[in-house]
Order: sequence, then C-alpha cells, then structure tokens
Amino acid sequence: MSVVAVIGAQWGDEGKGKIVDLLAEKADAVIRFSGGDNAGHTVINPGGEFKLHLVPSGIFYPRTACIIGNGVVINPRVLLEEMDSLKARGVDTGNLHISDRAHIIMPWDILLDRLDEEKRGPEAIGTTGKGIGPAFADKTARKGIRACDIIDAGTFRSRLASLMEPNNELLTRLYNAAALDFDTVFREYSAYAGRLAPYIKDTTSMISDLLERGSNIVLEGAQGTMLDTDFGSYPFVTSSSPLAAGACMGSGINPRRIDRVVGIFKAYTTRVGGGPMPTELKDEVGEYIRQRAHEYGTTTGRARRCGWFDAVVGRYSTNLNGFTSGILTRLDVLDEMDTVKICIGYKIGGRTVDRFPADAAALESCTPVYEELPGWKVNTSDARKAGELPRNARRYIRRLEELIGCQFHIISIGPRRDQSIVRKKVI
Ligand code: GDP
Ligand code: IMO
Ligand code: MG
Repeated sequence: MSVVAVIGAQWGDEGKGKIVDLLAEKADAVIRFSGGDNAGHTVINPGGEFKLHLVPSGIFYPRTACIIGNGVVINPRVLLEEMDSLKARGVDTGNLHISDRAHIIMPWDILLDRLDEEKRGPEAIGTTGKGIGPAFADKTARKGIRACDIIDAGTFRSRLASLMEPNNELLTRLYNAAALDFDTVFREYSAYAGRLAPYIKDTTSMISDLLERGSNIVLEGAQGTMLDTDFGSYPFVTSSSPLAAGACMGSGINPRRIDRVVGIFKAYTTRVGGGPMPTELKDEVGEYIRQRAHEYGTTTGRARRCGWFDAVVGRYSTNLNGFTSGILTRLDVLDEMDTVKICIGYKIGGRTVDRFPADAAALESCTPVYEELPGWKVNTSDARKAGELPRNARRYIRRLEELIGCQFHIISIGPRRDQSIVRKKVI
C-alpha cells in the first residue's frame, strides 16, 4: 500500500495531469484535494487528448475510484459538462465520487471574482475568473453552500435564501451590477443537484475504508506551490493550498498516512496571470520556449510567461513539501538550446539572497543570478532510459537535483504516457 501526493512544485502547469495518469495505473483511488476548475490538467493517452478541470486524472482506469475531495470548490455546470464530454468520448465516469463536504461555486462567486479583478485595475491578480477566490472566502467566512446542502430541495432553498440577499447587496451596492434572481438560481442549481446527487457521498469514510484495506492512493495536486496562499508570491496566489499539507486537509487523510510526496518540476519555469516571476524572459528566448512548448493556458488560453529554471523556488518548494521524489517534465523543450541557465539566487538592493522573500515588491525588482550550462542539441523525446539521455542533459539534471535537494525519479520527455523515463518507482 502507498499513499502518494503529487504536488506542483512551481507556478502550476508542471505536467501533473500527465504524471497522475501515468501513476494511476497502479492506484485504487485518485483524489483531487484543492482548487477548482481553475485547474487544467492535460492527459494524452491511447484514448486521445483530454483537458480535465475537476475530474481526477485517474478517470481513464475504470477500476480506479476518482474522488473530488472536500478541499475542492465545484462549479456544478463545469463538472457536468466535463462528465458529459468524457462519456461522449467513451470514458466511463461511473467510478466518480464527490465529497459531500466540498463547497459549491455559486453564480455570485463568479461575478464577484470578475468584478473584483476589474476594480483592482493594474493590480489585478490575473485570476482565471472561475469564482475560486470568492468561493473559498465564503467557505472560510462560513457562508458557503456545500454539496450536501444542494441535494435536499428544502435545505437548499433556505440556505440560498439566507445567502442571496447579502451577495445581491454586494453586487448592486459595491459594484453597481445587476442582482441575481432567486428563482432562476434555485431552478438552475436544483437541476444540477438532481444529476449530481448519485455521486455526492461521504468520501471521508470512503477514503478511511480505502486506507484500512491497504489501497494505493494518489492525491492529485492542482496549481503549484508558488500559488499557495501562505507561501506563494502573495497576493498573486490562489485561494487554497496546493502543498502536501493541503493534500491532508483537502482529503481527510492524516499526515502520518502519506508515504511519498512527489514534486512535479518543469525543466524551466512558467507562470500565467500577474505577479512577480524573477526568471521571466521577455525576449526571443522566452518566446521561443512559448512557441516550442505551446505554453498557453489549458483553462483560459492565456499565453504563459516563460523563463529559466528557478532553483531558489525549487529548493523552497522541496523544503515546504518534503519531496521524497522529484519528477522533471518537459526536458525535451530545451533540446535545441545552445546553453541552459539556472537561477541560483536573487540580487535585491545590492545583496544576493538564496531564499524566497515574502515581499512581492522585492521579488518584482530583483535580478536573478544565473549559472550557465552547455546545452545538448539532441532530440531526447525518444529516450526511454536515463543512460540514453545526452551527457549534457544528464549534467543539467544532476545540477538541478543538487540545487533543489531532491532526486528526479521520473524524467518526462514528451506529453504521452510512454514518453517517460522511470529511474525509480514512485508507486
Ligand atoms: P498540469 O496543470 O500540471 O496538469 O499541466 P498542464 O496540462 O496545464 O500543462 C502541461 C502541458 O505540458 C500539457 O500540454 C502536457 O501535455 C504537456 N507535457 C507534459 N509533460 C510533457 C513533457 O515531458 N514534454 C512535453 N513536450 N510536453 C509535456
Ligand atoms: P493547474 O492545476 C497555473 C493562477 C491564475 C492566477 C492565480 C489566481 O492547471 O496547474 P484563481 O483563479 O485561482 O483565483 O487565480 O492562480 N492559477 C493557475 N496557474 N495553473 C493552474 O492550475 C492555476 N490555477 C490558478 O492564473 O495567477
Ligand atoms: Mg494546468
């Protein structure tokens, strides 16, 4: 038995979907534990290419239970559309389970997310506009509606009645927007509840039983460590914890049960949305990476900002999560580079630091300190053993491992399941 948490180690989009799909072959259950449909996880397997936002990436193995945990916020319309589109492509969603404790994204959350971004103007966070921040704020302020609250019409009606008015006041008085209509929202969400009811259950007990039986469990992270509300580049972060600690909170698995924590690192850095990114390349190299790797957001289609690997971030992420394995993805993207750079520190106001600072303004103004290594100029996407990788690629990997303090047990050299070099089993 093993419980493996798969965590984004940078700013998201590290390739978690690909890796969870790979590891799920041996998993009895895959559990999403944080975020919502701000996530976009790409899976390319023999069934084709899939972009998942809420359904766990283990869904392609019918015997694997796929659980949307209590730590996820759910837009029921998006979830139903995703389930319908999977079914239309022959993927069975019968083994999907939704925590009765998961919170529901309400129409006001989506409106407030977008209106708040507009109000912030040039200081906008660059959210995905999916209502994530307001939904988690509602949850923490004890003003949320959970999956268990929408199944019974009477309970839902009274919960909605008490929350509709204050939210309409916010919309109309603070933002000058139109109010939402109670009956329209009630009807729409009751229809969603009718369809989702068979999937909504006590997943906390279900997970506890899976643990008792000695099952293999993969905890599927969303977002990345640098988007964590506490430890990320605040305030340019998301509103739930993508960390290994968040995996416990968002699933109900206690920390002593987690056997392995796997950090997914892209071989360079990307970020989508606003906020500091010390190694961002605003030149033709950044553009080259974006085009070669097609770095456009899976959820919003926005161009991702691209830059060199940031080892300050990498080490910070290893320390925060306690990675027992690293997985390096997208190494193939760097195949044609003459040289590759790694950021080993930041120059801030005349001082060089190798710790990630809390202050967004300091990060914004810092100059990265780079180490430069020779490129390999060889196509790596067909390699299937570490020994088949060119010497300079292995040198780059070794240097990253030294700097971040964690070994890469899988090297990914393409988006397909089989384009993976497994040096050591992680499940
Ligand atoms: P996630 O949010 O962490 O699941 O990552 P995304 O799916 O948003 O973005 C990762 C992208 O990289 C997807 O388009 C994947 O198909 C692709 N990908 C994953 N691993 C590799 C790899 O090793 N090489 C290449 N070239 N693409 C990869
Ligand atoms: P996956 O799981 C990359 C970013 C947004 C924005 C910030 C806050 O695919 O790696 P939010 O909508 O969460 O309030 O936006 O977080 N963001 C992501 N960036 N990958 C993601 O998920 C992200 N989810 C949120 O772009 O900067
Ligand atoms: Mg993504």
